[in-house]
Amino acid sequence: MTFGSATDPAHAHRGPARVPATSPASMDTAAGMDTAAGMDTAAGMARSDTAIWTRGLSKRYGARRAVDHLDLQVPRGALSGFVGPNGAGKSTTLRMLLGLIRPSAGHGHVLGEPITEPDRYLHRVGAMIEGPTFHPGLSGRRNLDQLAILRGIGGWQRARRARRVEEVLEQVGLGKRADDRFSSYSLGMKQRLGIAAALLPDPCLLILDEPTNGLDPAGIREIRALLGQLAGAGMTVFVSSHLLTEVEQICDHLVMINNGRMLFQGHVTDLLAAEDPRILMIPEHDADARRLAGLLDDEGLRVEIDLCSGPPDASATRGRRPVVTAHAPEGLAAHLNRLAMRAGITLRSLRTQRPNLEETFLRVTGEIDGDLVRSAQAAQAPDGSVPPPAGAGLDPAHSRGGAT
Ligand SMILES: Nc1ncnc2c1ncn2[C@@H]1O[C@H](COP(=O)(O)OP(=O)(O)OP(=O)(O)O)[C@@H](O)[C@H]1O
Ligand SMILES: [Mg+2]
Repeated sequence: MTFGSATDPAHAHRGPARVPATSPASMDTAAGMDTAAGMDTAAGMARSDTAIWTRGLSKRYGARRAVDHLDLQVPRGALSGFVGPNGAGKSTTLRMLLGLIRPSAGHGHVLGEPITEPDRYLHRVGAMIEGPTFHPGLSGRRNLDQLAILRGIGGWQRARRARRVEEVLEQVGLGKRADDRFSSYSLGMKQRLGIAAALLPDPCLLILDEPTNGLDPAGIREIRALLGQLAGAGMTVFVSSHLLTEVEQICDHLVMINNGRMLFQGHVTDLLAAEDPRILMIPEHDADARRLAGLLDDEGLRVEIDLCSGPPDASATRGRRPVVTAHAPEGLAAHLNRLAMRAGITLRSLRTQRPNLEETFLRVTGEIDGDLVRSAQAAQAPDGSVPPPAGAGLDPAHSRGGAT
């Protein structure tokens, strides 16, 4: 699932206080990841532990801030996802890291070397930025061989070069199609050849910009498996994507940006753990919703009542039923069910819901449909945090919880 475009800078930092929007001011020291929520397990990470480290990295195009004071810390050996909606500043950041464009401000290190001197680290970095370009009339093998010659891989020894080309072709699963013309390759095969080219110098850091762009689910799975293998073999992989579900499945570490600014960096599990689990209940009789909410409130739980949409053909009012949402862990579901039963309230449905990465991102960036934003704002908690959008939990595509 893709994101819509993010255009409103005012939304950039809206979101629950518990998700650390790491501010430049808090990041000036190596221990700067120590956020108030204490969620970032990268806290105290030294520059030497990181494959990519930046401070205040910025890029302006005229008045537009494409990248705005990014403080990156990508740990060595991680499979790290770089996520953000279209125009967030991912490609611009990657270009700065690869020395392709010069930052307007800030500084950084890649593999311990300053980004002002890319020659000192580029031979250890493999990169694919915005899709591979190859000669359509040549085979995959010939294309790679030419690139290897240009990059001086294998020195003057033809056999060594051919061996390396063979190795990377096997690594990306193109061995059997290596002698076919590039123009006859599927999109997924083209992307894999692009990754093979990036792997030629046997890099310890692989930087890929949207390697799954335009691929079908099978192609995405192939690339996902390949990246997992590479990271499993000890390579640091920094991969940009606007497909959050994809990142959630493969990455252990995450950098999340929007409008050029950092929203979160750290481990995916830490981000999700910071989101509160919820139990959603729909009483059989609408009139019972308030009473049920009162019971849950007496139990000390934070409770909201929202309207969920009915079947698509139902009219706006007829199809909407009150949903009582309790902010409570899955383990309390049976207890809440019994509580309702004892009070004579029958539940039409009860299910638990853990937010997924996409939902979390949408809330943090404020990129939620108008209705949902409004209902979330209306129900804003006293601590200033914005609770989950009312309807989001009712869309099976967004829900990972199971019926109890
Ligand atoms: N050469 C340029 N000149 C002017 N503006 C630019 C240039 N390159 C990028 N931008 C602007 O910088 C912002 C960030 O662009 P960037 O390509 O880095 O985003 P992205 O996160 O990679 O987006 P996408 O997911 O669409 O690839 C955008 O507003 C874009 O229009
Ligand atoms: Mg891009």
